[in-house]
Amino acid sequence: MNRDHVELLQWLVPGLPDVPMSSTYWIERAQLSLATSTQCRDVYPVIDHTRGSGVWMYDLEGNEYLDMTSGVAVRALGFRPDGIAEFERRLDDVIEELPGQDFDNIPHILLAERLAATAPGDFDKQVFFTTSGARAVETAIKAAIDQTGRQRFVAFRPAFHGRTGYALALTASKAVQREGFPQSLAVIRAPYAYPYRCPVGEDPEACTEYSLNTLRDAILDEGTDIAGIVVESLGGEGGIIVPPVSFLRGLREIADEYGAVLIADEVQAGLGRTGHWWAIQHAEVAPDMICTAKALGGGYPLGATIARSPMFERSSRHSETFSAEPRQALLSLFILRTIEERNLIENAGRVGAVMIERLRQELAGCDQVGEVRGRGFMLGVEFVEDRESKRHAGELRDRIVRNCVFSQRLWVLGAGRSTIRLLPALITDEEQAMEAVTRFVRAVDQETVALRAKRQVIAAAP
Ligand SMILES: Cc1ncc(COP(=O)(O)O)c(C=O)c1O
Repeated sequence: MNRDHVELLQWLVPGLPDVPMSSTYWIERAQLSLATSTQCRDVYPVIDHTRGSGVWMYDLEGNEYLDMTSGVAVRALGFRPDGIAEFERRLDDVIEELPGQDFDNIPHILLAERLAATAPGDFDKQVFFTTSGARAVETAIKAAIDQTGRQRFVAFRPAFHGRTGYALALTASKAVQREGFPQSLAVIRAPYAYPYRCPVGEDPEACTEYSLNTLRDAILDEGTDIAGIVVESLGGEGGIIVPPVSFLRGLREIADEYGAVLIADEVQAGLGRTGHWWAIQHAEVAPDMICTAKALGGGYPLGATIARSPMFERSSRHSETFSAEPRQALLSLFILRTIEERNLIENAGRVGAVMIERLRQELAGCDQVGEVRGRGFMLGVEFVEDRESKRHAGELRDRIVRNCVFSQRLWVLGAGRSTIRLLPALITDEEQAMEAVTRFVRAVDQETVALRAKRQVIAAAP
């Protein structure tokens, strides 16, 4: 952080005597001033908010990290992407805020049209802008209730759809997220198609059959009056779970059979990350609604629900103060344009496939790696006590995350009970991806070599 920026902070916060470049110091202050959320302060140091380029980021102490999270699937173009500074200069005369849901402006109309054009399905679509992924899900739920006149939804386990009212009612990813909070929506819960942990075995088709049959039974037992089926087209927080395409196709059929809408939650998986604009396109399924956020705002809060028209037929059924503000909408159009112009969707699909393959090869001999899976730049490595028992190895996973961050300077995230997820920026090239694999494998080795040694000592003991 340069001196000018430190002075700026001191000018903004009168009385700020010093700005130490120490993670420990700022973590202590953060603990006092910020409400507890999902921070893992014993793992991640404080990031220097003035440095970062492409896939490289820095902590306050100046250590450089290879970023494999893109801020939880947010920075599709990486840090300070090419052309961004010039683009921002061209926004100098654009005003910041307009209540877009009350008064129209050109940027948000163009963004709505552009987004709708990326979505599959040969029908008219409308877009509702929100300020987060959870709110995009809330919007879809309200629109589905409006369109069908029903109030019951299908959701899966595991599933993550956000932490607000209706979205939380659909979420089933970690008990702590729900415990003690009321259920705001009638939800029929069914098993997500998760072949690695499917009770009928790992065959994808058998797993689809099991999940869909269980869902069909649950609908018959709990209520056929379903308004919508809400599904992550690729499970994110639950552990990077790639469902068989037949599962998503089956959900389309069930939705049609019961006159319900199919809602694809692509807040994490969407916008090119898996090698298509939308992950559900791998199954050639057109959902009635798509929820998006994260990468759409390029680091600022923007979500959207893209839905079959008409989304709401009466005025005032749904609204937020903030919407796709003019500067925000133009930035999002810049992101979509760059993704297309630089073939980043193709890059994510191709480099991601190479990465998965290399990880599989490198980790093939490790009994604690249960499965390496993913699509494009949405990758997960699930850790188990051993391949036979498949028991979750959550603590081992946590130690490997720490090794990645502390000793390999590789910025990664956990997901599910024992998975590490990699969500590289769409600009990541093959060399950077291979560097990430090398660092990751070293972080795994640090633990598993120690585990092997420990076992040998135990085995050799008299
Ligand atoms: C699939 C999915 N849906 C919804 C959300 C909630 O998004 P937000 O945190 O912006 O509310 C997330 C966030 O991780 C997500 O991964």
